Amino acid sequence: MNRGNLLYEGKAKRVYQTDREDQVWVEYKDDATAFNGEKKAVIDRKGEWNNRISAVFFHYLKERGVANHFIRLLSSREQLVKHVSIIPLEVVVRNRAAGTLVKRLGLEAGQVFPQPVVEFYYKDDALGDPLINEDHIRLLNLATPERVEEMKQTALTVNQLLTELLEQHQITLVDFKLEFGVDASGQLLLADEISPDTCRFWDSRTGKVMDKDRFRRDLGDVEEAYQEIWNRLGGEAHV
Ligand code: C5P
Repeated sequence: MNRGNLLYEGKAKRVYQTDREDQVWVEYKDDATAFNGEKKAVIDRKGEWNNRISAVFFHYLKERGVANHFIRLLSSREQLVKHVSIIPLEVVVRNRAAGTLVKRLGLEAGQVFPQPVVEFYYKDDALGDPLINEDHIRLLNLATPERVEEMKQTALTVNQLLTELLEQHQITLVDFKLEFGVDASGQLLLADEISPDTCRFWDSRTGKVMDKDRFRRDLGDVEEAYQEIWNRLGGEAHV
C-alpha cells in the first residue's frame, strides 16, 4: 500500500489517496484545537495516542457488529480506512451532564442521566457547528429520516458497547461525538475517530479528567492522560 496525494487536511488529521479508490490513508497530527479553532497548540504524541486508541475502539466495535471504516493500523500515527463520503453531522451521545449541555440547560456538572441524550450538530465551521434537530436535517437535505434513525440507533449501540469496555478499565464514558459516512455502495459506516479528543473520559474512582478537557480547561498533563487511556486499554498488547 502506497501513500498518494493529500486529499484533505483537517484540524487533527490528514487524509491521503492510496492505490485503491475505496481506501484512504489517515495520518493523525499532534495539533490540538478547541472552541471552533480559537485555541491552538501542539501536543507531543497526541496524534499517536489518538490513532492507537481509535483503532482499538473501531476494531472492538467491528467485532461486535458495528459497521465502520477502520481497516488496519499502518504505523504509530497512521491508519488505513475505507473511503466514505462524510455526512456533515456530528452525533453526540451524553450519559452525564458536561460541557456545552451544562451551560445550555443549566445542569449540575456530573449529573447522571436516567437515559442517554442524543444530539445532532451541523458540521459547518462558519456557523460554529450549531445544534440542530431532525426537521432541520430534513430541511437542509443532510440525511433522510431513516438514515437519521439509523445513526441514532448505532450511536446508542456504540454508547452501550464502549461503556462496557471502558468500565472494565475504571473509565467512565461521560459523552462522545461520532461521525458517519456512506461508501460507494450506499452503506452507512461509522467513520472519523473515537479518541480522547472526541470523548469525555473520567477516572471512575477519582473523577480525574482524562480527555481533551485537560487542554480546553488548561488542566495540564494532556499527553500523559491520553497515554494513560491507551495503557489502561491494554497498550502494547494491541500493537
Ligand atoms: O462540547 P460539548 O459538551 O458539546 O461536547 C460533547 C462531546 O462531543 C465531547 O465529548 C466532545 O469532546 C465531543 N465533541 C467533538 N467535536 C466537536 C464537538 C464536541 O468531538 N466539534
